[in-house]
Amino acid sequence: MAEQIDIDKTLPKAEQYQLLKAQIQALIENETDPVAVMANTCAAIHETMGFWWTGFYRVVDGMLVVGPFQGPLACMRIAFGRGVCGTAWKEGRTVIVPDVEQFPGHIACSSHSRSEIVVPVFSDRGEIAAVLDIDSCDLAAFDETDRRWLEEICRLVRL
Ligand code: SME
Repeated sequence: MAEQIDIDKTLPKAEQYQLLKAQIQALIENETDPVAVMANTCAAIHETMGFWWTGFYRVVDGMLVVGPFQGPLACMRIAFGRGVCGTAWKEGRTVIVPDVEQFPGHIACSSHSRSEIVVPVFSDRGEIAAVLDIDSCDLAAFDETDRRWLEEICRLVRL
């Protein structure tokens, strides 16, 4: 049975991510359906880390289209190079935005979102199949520890 494990919030962030990664690995390693994998991956991240919005945008016919997520309603489609998500897709790299108001072209889905990280998810062929987008209500919520561990988690996600 899939059950969320409680991760001690007093642990250093890297240790919380290490436990979270192990939990996600166990959850998804025998699952081949991409929606199931994205759904439980973003739920595990969101519940454990207490973010504002956590979800996937998938590359569909040349656009990013919203996929499984946790949090309030989000915009449906994002064009190549637009916003933080479209920038991460275009540049093929993780983008960390400490203050969304300082990011030209940021797409505001929620006025509560203050900082953001977007991590590409690569297919086996090395193409970007999706991006993992996480928003926080706090300024500068994301750093190199988040980048490292969220990139590792995204490498577990087979789409
Ligand atoms: N802020 C994102 C759009 C998606 S929402 O945050 C869920 C962006 O600028 O790409």
